Amino acid sequence: MIKEKRPIIIDTDPGIDDAVALSIALNHPELDVQLLTTVAGNVNVHKTTENTLKLVSFFEKQVPVAKGCDKPLLIQLEDSAEIHGESGMDGYDFPKATAKALDIHAVEAMKDCILSSSEPITLVPIAALTNIALLLSMYPETKQNIKEIVMMGGSLSRGNTNTSAEFNTYVDPHAAQIVFQSGIPIVMVGLDVTSTALLTKNETEKIKAFGKVGNMFYSLFQHYRGGSLQTGLKMHDVCAIAYLTDPDLFTVQETFIEIALDGPAAGATVADLKMKYHDSTNATACLDIDIPAFQKWVVSNLEKIN
Ligand code: BDR
Ligand code: CA
Repeated sequence: MIKEKRPIIIDTDPGIDDAVALSIALNHPELDVQLLTTVAGNVNVHKTTENTLKLVSFFEKQVPVAKGCDKPLLIQLEDSAEIHGESGMDGYDFPKATAKALDIHAVEAMKDCILSSSEPITLVPIAALTNIALLLSMYPETKQNIKEIVMMGGSLSRGNTNTSAEFNTYVDPHAAQIVFQSGIPIVMVGLDVTSTALLTKNETEKIKAFGKVGNMFYSLFQHYRGGSLQTGLKMHDVCAIAYLTDPDLFTVQETFIEIALDGPAAGATVADLKMKYHDSTNATACLDIDIPAFQKWVVSNLEKIN
């Protein structure tokens, strides 16, 4: 049975794992990517926008791209160029983008897209939550046409920036707090699953053989410092896309998540897994992932693009 295409907006900061996530989402038969919005995160917003436009052009897609916030709501940007390279997508010489960004801000573009959609939209932030927090604060009327937020970010255990915080929630904890307090259903695809679901040599060698697309990704993978080709690559953002099409790959739990705003755990997503301190939940947290099934999912989706 062919499933209905699910309308989504992806908010992104490419980023090498973002690039893989976008490539699969843009080409997946069950996903209708209505808009791509960009934000400062892995690198500055000019670069994340340019990288998004390059990917859309590379795949010859007509999906609109809107540039968003150039810094977190209240704090300075700390980027992640040491992981993704100075350009954010080091390692492959993309042709100049033919696609152009919209001449409105990402928050306005999201608002227009959500309010004009006949079907509720799923928001898929795979970066800091700055744009999403502004959208919900400036245009709360959009909430009624947002189906859910499926986000890559957060952690139920250790972080990858300070001891406890994952990068996306660390970059803009105040935005994360607004989003987690919004009342919109949230699925948190955090480090607990994304740090374990590695692409190993077995998968990367297969991907390398996938023609132009395989060559592009293998070149990026050689420069990616979210793991290595020898020890396995962390495909954080790709897990959020997998959740959209194949949620059965994940073990989840309803819980309440608070955001630590400052101190040594700033940006941490503090979960009340035993529900000792809250009467109701505000998020679905991913606890576990079927790693071999995820690895197969990535390879088969990249293979289909060729
Ligand atoms: C997240 O941080 C970024 O560097 C990645 O693109 C991903 O969104 C992982 O912590
Ligand atoms: Ca990202």
